[in-house]
Amino acid sequence: QSGAITLDPGYGNTGSCQSAITFIDGEKGILRYRGYPIEELAEKSTFDEVMYLLIWGDKPSADQLAKFRAQLVEHAGLDERVKKHLEALPATTHPMAVISSVLATLSAYYPSTDDRDEDIVRLLAKFKSLVAWSYRRKKGLDYINPDPNLGYVEDFLNMMFGSYDEATVSAMHQLLILHADHEQNCSTSTVRMVGSSHADVYATMAAGVCALWGPLHGGANQAVIEMLEAIQDDGGDVSKYVTMAKDKESGFKLMGFGHRVYKNFDPRARIIKKAADKVLDALGIDDPSLDIAKQLEQVALEDEFFVARKLYPNVDFYSGIIYRALNIPTDFFTVMFALGRMPGWISQWRELRDENARIHRPRQVYIGPKQRSF
Ligand code: SDX
Repeated sequence: QSGAITLDPGYGNTGSCQSAITFIDGEKGILRYRGYPIEELAEKSTFDEVMYLLIWGDKPSADQLAKFRAQLVEHAGLDERVKKHLEALPATTHPMAVISSVLATLSAYYPSTDDRDEDIVRLLAKFKSLVAWSYRRKKGLDYINPDPNLGYVEDFLNMMFGSYDEATVSAMHQLLILHADHEQNCSTSTVRMVGSSHADVYATMAAGVCALWGPLHGGANQAVIEMLEAIQDDGGDVSKYVTMAKDKESGFKLMGFGHRVYKNFDPRARIIKKAADKVLDALGIDDPSLDIAKQLEQVALEDEFFVARKLYPNVDFYSGIIYRALNIPTDFFTVMFALGRMPGWISQWRELRDENARIHRPRQVYIGPKQRSF
């Protein structure tokens, strides 16, 4: 951060890049978007303010925010033919496959213009509507069109469920803010990789959705709930699963635990854990998965195997419990992660393109056969 090293903004062939967007200190459990601590943003900001902050670098003024919100409303509609695309896919298709495939084709209806900021707002607005419409198609429900009188999160919930309430809106703002960016994680690096070839922005973001889907990355939030349900069905004995996770042969990992960078608590997990209690209380829900999650966390945090390896709960450990309380289906949890992460992907893509970064071309250490005659 001292500026001691200057890296190619687009990785180049070093595999690392410089960026002014998100700062993480894994040892201290620090996360800041454009210098603002995640704890403050989660407490005091709204998701549309954070989208603006990440992408354009500063908190929006009242006028800038009003204009941004008006543009999000203006661009929220989707071409009717998107419905045919959604209906052409089996209803059993995993929502991440639906989202990535339909997202990649949106350039057919909305070709890029020479105004990158306009393209960005349009993508943010339409992605929210695509997520909601894919939910409605999956459930066999009528599509709900965007309501120009509603804000981004309220409109998303209204397009999903036909209604929204204050507790759900507040929890959704916080969850989306907490997922909005995270430096050079797997899916963001994918977005930078694809974006560096100057591929179309929808195709670039579809690549990010595909990378996020993996259970070691964003797909972990779905895998955590499936793990908690398995523990519950198996009599609720968390120590059996902790023991299994310590046995390499088992191939089982405690989903929602560990992180490439955080070797201390993931600050987002702390916030989401508090939010889970608050949301379930507000909605009057008693979810045994939350109790099992807390027991699992307690046992793991006292176990030498996890302590020695600095394995702590990450952002995915508690988020699924809130999504389920908000009636989001389990296989839609990672789509919710993508909805939150979209502004982060876009901010990193914009940074890369605005700095005319070179095409990514990581190098390798060749360990194959020496030259030989065929
Ligand atoms: C996200 O990068 C990001 O920023 C991602 C993310 C974002 O916002 O974009 O934060 C979102 O993807 C969070 C991570 C979600 N994934 C999971 O919860 C899946 C379970 N976690 C593990 O698969 C794992 O912890 C990873 C993938 C997250 C990290 O993998 P690493 O870096 O290879 O793990 P490590 O080097 O820290 O592991 C050290 C040791 C190893 O054992 P040893 O070889 O030293 O004996 O800990 C073990 C690992 O096998 N280990 C685990 C474990 N995680 C690591 N053992 C059991 N259960 C686990 N969850």
